[in-house]
Amino acid sequence: GSALAGPALAETYPSRPITLVVPFAAGGPTDLMARIIGERMGKELGQQFIIDNTTGAAGTIAVGKAVRAAPDGYTISIGHLGTHVANGTIYKNLSYDLLTDLLPIARLPSNPMLVVSANAVPAQNLKELVDYLKANPDKVSGGTAGIGSASHLGALAFFAATGARYQLVPYRGTGPAVQDLIANQIQVMVDQSSNSLPHVRAGKIRAYAVTAKDRSAAAPEIPTAAEAGYPMEVAIWHGLWAPKGTPAAIVEKLNAAAVATLQDPAIRSRMEDLGQDVPTPTEMAPAAFAAFQRAEYAKWQKILSDANVKVE
Ligand code: MLT
Repeated sequence: GSALAGPALAETYPSRPITLVVPFAAGGPTDLMARIIGERMGKELGQQFIIDNTTGAAGTIAVGKAVRAAPDGYTISIGHLGTHVANGTIYKNLSYDLLTDLLPIARLPSNPMLVVSANAVPAQNLKELVDYLKANPDKVSGGTAGIGSASHLGALAFFAATGARYQLVPYRGTGPAVQDLIANQIQVMVDQSSNSLPHVRAGKIRAYAVTAKDRSAAAPEIPTAAEAGYPMEVAIWHGLWAPKGTPAAIVEKLNAAAVATLQDPAIRSRMEDLGQDVPTPTEMAPAAFAAFQRAEYAKWQKILSDANVKVE
């Protein structure tokens, strides 16, 4: 709209519910974060957040939809390292540019990943799991949320760190994938701690390692991958984005609501209990987040190009 429309639009914003596009199936870590953050931001802004799970192609369908939405603040998207960085390098025919077609609103919590297996897998530590995988190269399947998803990036990091492999089975999200892990339909995953930790605590799946330099305060009994001799560090950060052209005053209102949400002790403890690290208000600022995303983009562009990970 015209320059005049920006401030006027921002003054009354939000005057109706806001749609939050989630690139993965309900029940997964991105969906969970969307629902926790959306509910609390809705309280802050006085309008309900409507969750729109748009799945497929590791989130590239959803991001395409979010890019084409009206730049009025009423359709925003949530995503992460995979959907808003890695996919920009991996998918050669994307209809959008992640660094110019979207405006960062706020950085959200990040979390390490857990190497987990079905309880039926005969391994009691990471070394035994790696040996088991190497002894059964083509018989073990592992879940991801598609090529470029966080769980796919986690698998690649695991393969590089251990030399082991497993068959990659794509799901519409790691919510559905972990259900198949519990049922031993698939045997292994590298999955965000926020998704797998509750099932580990319930004894439904087994955890071997956390993909961080230090053990997680939420799960101090789980060793780091380095402790088992396989150093690997992968942190899946999240964020909110608006379509290019959204008035800055609206982006600022959304950022303020996200900052207030993550300053809420109840929200912080919910996130931390799932092994997530909450960013500071400074890290969450649109400009700081944009710089962070660009740096991550350059870092992963090299990793993924060197590993020749691509979808034509
Ligand atoms: C991923 O693997 O990219 C996410 O964990 C998928 C999801 O949030 O369901």
